[in-house]
Order: sequence, then structure tokens, then C-alpha cells
Amino acid sequence: MSRINRQLRLKSRPEGLVKREDFDLQEYPVAELKDGEVLVRVLYLSMDPTNRVWMSDIPQYMPPVAIGEVMRGLGLGRVVMSKSANYAEGDLVQGLLGWQDYAVIDDSHLKDYVKLPPRPPVPLPTLLGACGFSGITAYYGLTEIAPVQPGETLVVSAAAGSVGSIVGQIGKLRGARVVGIAGGPEKCRYLIDELGFDAAVDYKAEDWKKALADATPDGVHVNFENVGGPVMRAVLSRMVNGGRVALCGLIANYTSGARPSDDYSVIIVKRLTVRGFLAFDYRDTQKAVQELIGWVLKGRIKAEETIEDGLENAPLVLNQLFEGSNRGKLLLRVSDEV
Ligand SMILES: NC(=O)c1ccc[n+]([C@@H]2O[C@H](COP(=O)([O-])OP(=O)(O)OC[C@H]3O[C@@H](n4cnc5c(N)ncnc54)[C@H](OP(=O)(O)O)[C@@H]3O)[C@@H](O)[C@H]2O)c1
Repeated sequence: MSRINRQLRLKSRPEGLVKREDFDLQEYPVAELKDGEVLVRVLYLSMDPTNRVWMSDIPQYMPPVAIGEVMRGLGLGRVVMSKSANYAEGDLVQGLLGWQDYAVIDDSHLKDYVKLPPRPPVPLPTLLGACGFSGITAYYGLTEIAPVQPGETLVVSAAAGSVGSIVGQIGKLRGARVVGIAGGPEKCRYLIDELGFDAAVDYKAEDWKKALADATPDGVHVNFENVGGPVMRAVLSRMVNGGRVALCGLIANYTSGARPSDDYSVIIVKRLTVRGFLAFDYRDTQKAVQELIGWVLKGRIKAEETIEDGLENAPLVLNQLFEGSNRGKLLLRVSDEV
């Protein structure tokens, strides 16, 4: 029986939030495999803020997705057919599989994909969240980019999200006082009661800047920045002289088209070190992944995912990241386990 591949192709560049009409859902029969190729059934797609950036024709770290192209997306899939000596049927594969049901990868692109054990020690969704790209981002941000020391105050924004929730928990493991910034009282309660943060600030509350000041009486030594805009400005104003910033993301700008303020004087006044970084630059992530898996298995880090269903829903599901309706890693289940 021939397999049908559904693909979401970018039709128009979204303005603001993504609309279903910005994508075409097209169907093609899966072609016969050539030597050296494998066919991967996509199981989960990682819904990432960077997907929205890739849809825009702006300067960025990868070429924007072209109009008519299959939407680029990180995913986890299982090999269902192999004509490569490097993969066997049943292997799990992680990498840029794209917003589609099936991906064909070939031996010349092996280095772009990670082969995972067929039966990993943590659930598959966790391999895309706490023990995947989000966890890796948190790990390197806090160990190499802006290492936090015991007793220091760490502030992390988008703290109830995928990267932020792991950042805060690693901060606690490193002995820091951890303050999370998140939208709404429910998320703030979650940070303190379930993830063990020391304090949480609801940036949607009227008096949030005072709450931030109250939560950081000794100032902020490390800022793990996921948001930008007014949240980042408020945190920078609380930093100690010589404080360090791991500049991970600026999600407040991704749908607005706004460019960040060019008033960087606080960086001079407070002699801050601000380091931007991309988790994609870390090629050998085995050490980080093994440590993250160990923490999850020992219950030292809680992994949470928000999982939605259906490839066709990907454009609208992505918007949850910008509306703040996800908690932990936002994933799209494309297919049940095969
Ligand atoms: N540098 C890297 O290599 C790298 C890798 C992965 C991710 N990132 C960046 O890390 C950040 C978090 O990514 P993620 O995948 O973990 O997403 P996430 O935190 O799971 O989801 C995004 C969260 O951002 C918050 N948010 C959205 N718009 C906001 C706004 N205008 N102001 C304040 N908060 C807002 C929302 O939470 P609330 O309900 O709290 O508003 C939302 O849940 C993003 O900026 C992303 O681009 C960077």
C-alpha cells in the first residue's frame, strides 16, 4: 500500500499571529526510496518560537523558509523503512524533519540528525523538551554562557515555558536563589509550588515591577533572558554591577515585528556582560543530554509538556507560544507510536 505524505507548505508570510491560510496542506504519495535513504514517520513536532522567526523574511541565523517550501521544524520520528546501512527500521531519529507526516533523509545528511535508542529511558515527548533542545539550551546557557554560582540570584523570564522551567530548576540544583517571571497567577503558583522556585513575578499584574524589586532584594546576578522588551528592561535595571546575561530569546518581538529598543546604556552603567548564544551551535550534546536524563529520572527536574494533536493544526498550535497558553514544552503529536 503506498503511503501518503501530508506537508504544510508556507503560502504567505504571517503578520502577527499565524493564520491557517498562511499554509497549504498538500498531499503526495511517498516516493520509492533510493539507496542510502531512510523513511521516517514523524511522531512529534517541536513547536518552537523560532518557527515563527523562520516564517519571516528578516535577518536571522538560518535562511527564512521560502514561500512554497515545507515548513522547517524540529521533530522526532521513527524509521519505518531503510535503504541505509546507518539506520535500521525502528530507530528513533531527531532533527529538522519538517511539518509533514514523513521525512526522507539520506546518508549525506547523517550529521544533521541524531539517532536515539529505540527504547529511550524517558518518554518520547521529554526527548524534545527537558531532555532535548530546550533542556540543552537551558543547560549550556547556565553552565557556559552565564554560569550561576551558589547563593547568587538568577532571574529567568518565560519561566513556566520549556526552556525557562528547566533553567530555573537547574539554577536551584546549582544553589542559586531563583526568581521566575511568567504570565498569570496560575503559572506563578506552579513555579513555586511545583518547580521549587524561590519567588515568581506575574508580569501581567499591575504592580509587577515592584514585585520584581521585592523578589530581588540583593539585585540580580544572572539574567537568563527569553523575552526581551519591557520584561528584559525591568530585569536589567535590577542587576548588580558586573552581572551576566544569557541572551537566549526575545519572544516579545517575534510576532510584533518591532525591533528592540536601542537604549543599551544600562549595560554600560552596570558593566554587564551580555552573551547571545544558539543551542544549535553545540554539536556534541551527549554530556548535557545524559545529565538532563539523569536529573529527570531521579526526580530532580520535573519535565512537563503541553501536547496537541494533528499535523493540520500546527500553524494555530504554534500561536500558543505567543499567547502563553502552553506550560512546559509545546508539542504537536503527528502520529501515534509506530
Ligand atoms: N538561543 C537558543 O538557542 C534558543 C533555543 C530555544 C529557545 N530559545 C528562545 O527561548 C525562549 C523560550 O522558548 P521556549 O521554546 O522555551 O518557549 P516557551 O517558553 O515554552 O513558550 C513561550 C512563552 O513565552 C511567554 N511569552 C510569549 N510572549 C511574551 C511576551 N510578549 N512577554 C512575556 N512573555 C511572553 C509565554 O509565557 P507567559 O504565559 O509567561 O507569557 C509563553 O508560554 C524564546 O525566546 C526562544 O526563542 C532560544
